[in-house]
Amino acid sequence: MSSYVTRKTPGDTEWFRHDRFGMFIHWGLYSMPSRHEWVKTNERIPEEKYDKYFKYFNPDLYDPKEWARQARAAGMKYVVLTTKHHEGFCMFDSQYTDYKCTNTPAGRDLVREYVDAFRAEGLRIGFYYSLIDWHHPEFPIDNLHPRRDDPDAEEKSKGRDMKKYAEYMRNQVTELLTNYGKIDILWFDFSYSGNTNPNKPWMRGKGKDDWEAEELIATARRLQPGIIIDNRTEIEQDLWTPEQYQPTAWVRHAETGELVTWEACQTFSGSWGYYRDEMTWKSPEMLIQMLINTVSVGGNLLMNVGPTSRGYLDYRAEAALAAYADWMKYNSRSIYGCTMAEPELLALCPNGCKFTQSEDGSRLYIHLYEYPFQYLELQGFAGKVDYAQFLHDGSELLFEENKISHFSEGRTASDNMLVIKLPVVKPKTLVPVIELMLK
Ligand code: GLC
Repeated sequence: MSSYVTRKTPGDTEWFRHDRFGMFIHWGLYSMPSRHEWVKTNERIPEEKYDKYFKYFNPDLYDPKEWARQARAAGMKYVVLTTKHHEGFCMFDSQYTDYKCTNTPAGRDLVREYVDAFRAEGLRIGFYYSLIDWHHPEFPIDNLHPRRDDPDAEEKSKGRDMKKYAEYMRNQVTELLTNYGKIDILWFDFSYSGNTNPNKPWMRGKGKDDWEAEELIATARRLQPGIIIDNRTEIEQDLWTPEQYQPTAWVRHAETGELVTWEACQTFSGSWGYYRDEMTWKSPEMLIQMLINTVSVGGNLLMNVGPTSRGYLDYRAEAALAAYADWMKYNSRSIYGCTMAEPELLALCPNGCKFTQSEDGSRLYIHLYEYPFQYLELQGFAGKVDYAQFLHDGSELLFEENKISHFSEGRTASDNMLVIKLPVVKPKTLVPVIELMLK
């Protein structure tokens, strides 16, 4: 058994750590301007102008079954959709607002279709819910708000009642966790109470007290007891969520130093929402390495797609998912149920390789980032390995221990060396994996 113990939290995180790989979906009105999901505030777009998107939002090609099929093929085991992002627009039929998809040409509950489709493909269902809301009339004009530079911003913000907004959130979270069956993840986003504008002291950031986060969380737990909740309300829950960077070590609790359940969230390109002209798309190799790197330090990866406003995944997103599908079809055994290799093995990891190890400790996976010619030398491994094979095709890999015949004169096998003989040409898989059955 793995010797790593993660901090206990209220939600059911065991399946989550096993499954390792999920799909994030950022979809909303911002898919129409397709200039980042923050476009409303980045460009200070007034409500009347933003209403154009509401008026014309018509995802006529929305086919969540197709999304779900691609997610499953990519090896993703769970999914998290933006039911409401910072713009405030609701992708579900809420009775607490008119600002929802059912009142646009879309004319139907998009969250319902999403839930049904992904559930049918066997994925666990998550909801992202934005704490920030740039549409709600009671949400104060603060330093992230689209109206922050208006000359009468202070005037307009006066009388806005955060308590009413907090209640609105509780009502909506109640709807989301009541009307759609079992929900496994609730992903709140985000708090920034430390962020205050020195020139406009009334323009304060928001945190747990503003959200009435304690009550919000209690509501969610009452409705869905095992649900996994992230830490972004400013009240620590089940999930630590490093964003747009890859931790190089297992994430630890800031005070106790315990290992925690964590999930890196990442994008295929430089935006969460569909951004037509953004060109920094990650290469297939990078995408696969990001998944391996994450699991190699005990984390999960939540990889994002930003569907178009017509409701399909554009060709670049499809290609990125296909890269995962090609690799995961043959190599997922080094991901599911795997974690950081035991310290004594990790210390022996050769250059150009990344380890993961099965939870039960019986198998070690060596991911070959730099394909070696023609031998992989594993110092300290003699006597540890029962059998070795490539994971993608289950073909045996021969190895020698201590006595190493490929060495030319002048070099002898140092103690405990195990050498695996590899084919000269790298197998046709982006990152080949060696599976070692340990003794
Ligand atoms: C950030 C952004 C947001 C995105 C999220 C995903 O907090 O505000 O646009 O949804 O990260 O992690």
